[in-house]
Amino acid sequence: MRFDGKVAIVTGGARGMGASHVRGLVAEGARVAICDLLDDEGKALAEELPQTRYCHLDVTSEESWQSAVRATEDAFGPVDVLVNNAGIIHFGGVEAQTPDQFRRILDVNLVGAFLGMHTVLPGMRSRSHGAVVNISSAAGLTGFADGIGYVASKWGVRGLTKAAALDMAGTGVRINSVHPGVIRTPMGESASSDLFTDQPLPRVGEPEEVTRMVLFLASADASYTTGGEFLIDGGQTIGRTGHAAKSPAGTGI
Ligand SMILES: NC(=O)c1ccc[n+]([C@@H]2O[C@H](COP(=O)([O-])OP(=O)(O)OC[C@H]3O[C@@H](n4cnc5c(N)ncnc54)[C@H](O)[C@@H]3O)[C@@H](O)[C@H]2O)c1
Repeated sequence: MRFDGKVAIVTGGARGMGASHVRGLVAEGARVAICDLLDDEGKALAEELPQTRYCHLDVTSEESWQSAVRATEDAFGPVDVLVNNAGIIHFGGVEAQTPDQFRRILDVNLVGAFLGMHTVLPGMRSRSHGAVVNISSAAGLTGFADGIGYVASKWGVRGLTKAAALDMAGTGVRINSVHPGVIRTPMGESASSDLFTDQPLPRVGEPEEVTRMVLFLASADASYTTGGEFLIDGGQTIGRTGHAAKSPAGTGI
């Protein structure tokens, strides 16, 4: 299996896409730290999956990152894979969004991913081995109205990924970003169906479809890939069909 003997951290791992990434990594042999603020959900998932442990983490706190990584290494050994998945959204346009909301979104979505890499990369560099997958969004490649902080944060994650991939050049550490469209999770349920009904694959995506991309990038299958941006958005960003779909397409993949 692709992750036999490997150790992974998944932030925001207690629910939604993060929980799916945890399940996918475990199914392929990894031991996984489920890191989140949602202690009850995270502990319940860890009880279900013996190769995991729950670890309380606030991605905005440097101290919290240090203790989460230390706890993971004490339990499982050095970290091979980091999935920076934790994220929040507050809808609001450039006039309506409060500066506090804007700062909070950047703090979780962008600073959180920076702090994760800042804490984990020195160990990966010293072992000349590791993979980081940063979860951006289709909103990291385009804009949408009433999402000023979210869009800015996800463009930031895309740039952060490329700059960090260059910083890690020649070290054996690869860093890539993943850009989902609308996915069926608690966060995805807050998105308007207008976002996907006239896209080329006119349906909401499933967390497991994103997980397959994340696992590819985290594994040796992606050995010649770094600094890349990987869309999994039902074609949302290439343009709109201009009409509602007659039947859902793209199922059964
Ligand atoms: N669902 C979508 O349609 C969609 C589309 C594109 C990108 N994304 C991105 O995918 C990622 C996962 O989103 P999801 O849809 O599963 O959302 P979700 O709300 O179901 O899960 C997000 C998780 O992040 C955790 N989290 C939030 N703030 C945190 C913090 N400060 N520290 C630690 N954990 C924290 C939450 O507790 C939650 O478990 C996010 O980065 C999101 O922006 C989602």
